[in-house]
Amino acid sequence: MSVLEIKDLHVSVDTELGSKQILRGVNLIIEQGQTHAIMGPNGSGKSTLAYAIAGHPKYHVTSGSILLDGEEMTTLSVDARARAGLFLAMQYPVEIPGVTVTNFLRTAKTAIDGSAPPLRGWIKDVKSSMSALRMDSTFAERNVNEGFSGGEKKRNEILQLELLKPKFAVLDETDSGLDVDALKIVSEGVNRAKSNTDLGVLLITHYNRILRYITPDFVHVFVAGQVVESGGPELAVQLENEGYDEYVKASAAAAAAIASAEAADAAVTSAAAPAVNA
Ligand SMILES: Nc1ncnc2c1ncn2[C@@H]1O[C@H](COP(=O)(O)OP(=O)(O)OP(=O)(O)O)[C@@H](O)[C@H]1O
Ligand SMILES: [Mg+2]
Repeated sequence: MSVLEIKDLHVSVDTELGSKQILRGVNLIIEQGQTHAIMGPNGSGKSTLAYAIAGHPKYHVTSGSILLDGEEMTTLSVDARARAGLFLAMQYPVEIPGVTVTNFLRTAKTAIDGSAPPLRGWIKDVKSSMSALRMDSTFAERNVNEGFSGGEKKRNEILQLELLKPKFAVLDETDSGLDVDALKIVSEGVNRAKSNTDLGVLLITHYNRILRYITPDFVHVFVAGQVVESGGPELAVQLENEGYDEYVKASAAAAAAIASAEAADAAVTSAAAPAVNA
């Protein structure tokens, strides 16, 4: 059985003003077939976690590990992680001018599997996944995400998920911007991938509504770069009703307590220094 294990992960990002720490010790264990939902306020670091798992070059792991079946991912390039079985559906999928959806999918599939998929079966798979996701066949010849509506971009992410067949997928707000019908279609796509390949899912969302279609085994509250609470699906309902206020306040109080303990330590050290030196 495959396992994705995130251990005490600290991540900083390159900004114009220098390096900024975003993740402060994330711990998560996702087993094959499980769905873990992550919910948390804007700016808490959810997409940073998604990028760090995928290997975005701007995000630096300063300590901790991301292990896929015991193999360290943090030292691998993005493409090596994809070959190992990781997949990211981005919050803001990027446009790739000059590359058609068909070419993109076939090139990605070939790179991941190490050989080109047999043509006839591949064309059939692409057509049937597109039709299941209610994507018009004309999308196949359009450039990736170019001029796609928000919802069309999200469907295109799930099309990749279905065809590339990773072991673990991080879905970063795949539900946002979807109308009610599209939400159902996209969720069915994720559920198909779960039942066909026993996919493990890390589902980042702001809304409980997608969790009515994709039932999570665990829900985690993410605040200030950490998981601060974990529970079952009922936690998502509670968060939707009550918001994150209680968790944000507790996290700020804990950070202030650590900062003041560190300041006290520094004061003791500097007071002791002259005596030691004397
Ligand atoms: N390249 C960057 N330069 C500067 N700051 C960054 C960069 N990337 C991330 N950050 C900051 O890191 C913090 C976490 O951002 P992140 O996108 O991970 O949040 P999020 O939890 O996904 O938020 P949302 O719910 O709005 O998508 C934010 O304060 C963001 O501004
Ligand atoms: Mg985000």
